[in-house]
Amino acid sequence: MIGRFLKSFRRNEEIDWNSLSKEKIPEHVAVIMDGNGRWAKRHGLPRIAGHRAGMETVKKIIKAADRLGVKVLTLYAFSTENWKRPKEEVDFLMKLPQEFLLIELDELIARNVQVRMMGWKEDLPAHTLKAVEEAVKKTEHNTGLILNFALNYGSRREMIEGFKKMAGEIQSGRLSIDQIAEEQFPKYLHTGRLPDPDLMIRTSGEQRISNFMLWQLAYTELWFTDVFWPEFTEQHFYQAIRDYQHRGRRYGGL
Ligand code: FPP
Repeated sequence: MIGRFLKSFRRNEEIDWNSLSKEKIPEHVAVIMDGNGRWAKRHGLPRIAGHRAGMETVKKIIKAADRLGVKVLTLYAFSTENWKRPKEEVDFLMKLPQEFLLIELDELIARNVQVRMMGWKEDLPAHTLKAVEEAVKKTEHNTGLILNFALNYGSRREMIEGFKKMAGEIQSGRLSIDQIAEEQFPKYLHTGRLPDPDLMIRTSGEQRISNFMLWQLAYTELWFTDVFWPEFTEQHFYQAIRDYQHRGRRYGGL
């Protein structure tokens, strides 16, 4: 009872980012930014207005993550399944990275942020790819927060392609079956040498992984909120971090 009261009290309380333990900041935070469409509908706006509002949240959360000393922030911006949406919405979503980078790239550079992308580049419109590649190139030597956009990304395809690459190496004699190991497989994935996420946040009340980093999330702490992504604030982010700091991660041990 008291525990439940304290929990609800803690949920509504304003969190000063300074009060979070700097020793237990998640190294890698991954986010499924969900609820843009429903947020727009609730406000009587077209879905694309929800995505634009979502972009504003992206800006805020990058700053909050950077301020806390998070090393990697992965944002699920477009899934391999999102191509099924109406053309107008897809076209809009494909313009957002460009728009975002046009406004934000200088600030990202000033913050020493390194921009990366995971997902299949070949299916992206030329203008989207150009903007992303330019940002990746301009920030590749930066040593601060790694801002990893999952764009045209899907985890099953990532793993299947990883298996194929591995099988090719076995076939050509560069890898033996005995060398296949948990530690070695991630190099075939889009995340490469990035650490696995410590914390995964999904907004909008959905409690699913939706083909997002299925291998990498094996031991990740999951945090769900009913808040739609356009309404997600630094405070919600700090709440997620604080809840994460109260969890005991045992990795299957005691
Ligand atoms: C899911 O909400 C969200 C997306 C498919 C797109 C996410 C994109 C952004 C937040 C903007 C990205 C910004 C940059 C800088 C790339 P939904 O549309 O599925 O929402 P719904 O479930 O309520 O319909």
